[in-house]
Amino acid sequence: MVEITKRKIEELVLKAQIKFDSAEVEKIVCTQEDASLKSPGVPAHYYRFLYTFTKEYKPALCVELGTHTGISALCMAEGNPQGQIVTLDVNSYLRNECKRPNIEYWLQDSLLPLKRPLSNVDMLFVDTVHNGTRPRNEYYYWLQYMNPEGVIFFDDIYLFDEMKKFWQEFSPMEGEKFDLPIHGAAGFGVVILNKEKVCK
Ligand SMILES: C[S@@+](CC[C@H](N)C(=O)[O-])C[C@H]1O[C@@H](n2cnc3c(N)ncnc32)[C@H](O)[C@@H]1O
Repeated sequence: MVEITKRKIEELVLKAQIKFDSAEVEKIVCTQEDASLKSPGVPAHYYRFLYTFTKEYKPALCVELGTHTGISALCMAEGNPQGQIVTLDVNSYLRNECKRPNIEYWLQDSLLPLKRPLSNVDMLFVDTVHNGTRPRNEYYYWLQYMNPEGVIFFDDIYLFDEMKKFWQEFSPMEGEKFDLPIHGAAGFGVVILNKEKVCK
């Protein structure tokens, strides 16, 4: 994967204000009741961002913690059909129309030993329980599986007081933390890992 920088990611947000190439995916995504998915002129919703991100960076391996109905994994898979996506969840809410051949669906807890070994995860999307504690634990647990130059996204960093506190106090030594305007008031966070700091 080519080098990721904060500036490039912020530029992608502007690029991401596009419709999906597939009319079917556009329709699936628009079933979500989120105003920022539908309103022209607002910064892109994170679904469009994830699609644009994988389209642009072509990550070989993405992992998502929290599949739910499978829309976010679908967006990553559609952006880069040559890449592999692993998405996991403790529940089965997956919608059939969101399945794609380059996605593996794991029924498992995000903090338990993995079903099969993974390494060099280019992009991790943290989106399970938004209580502040779990996202923090997930970050530190999943670091061992990351590409040391990879990127980690966090959904809903401002949704609840516990999440706000977590994000405010979170000071990852391994990389650069910032947020993106792609999920309205709920917030969306980023950590770009830095090889020198991860491998120290
Ligand atoms: C907010 S939803 C994910 C939404 C999805 N990423 C999207 O953007 O469309 C959170 C999901 O995390 C799952 N979850 C809750 N606790 C979990 C755990 N301990 N391990 C893995 N998944 C969990 C829930 O079952 C739920 O489907």
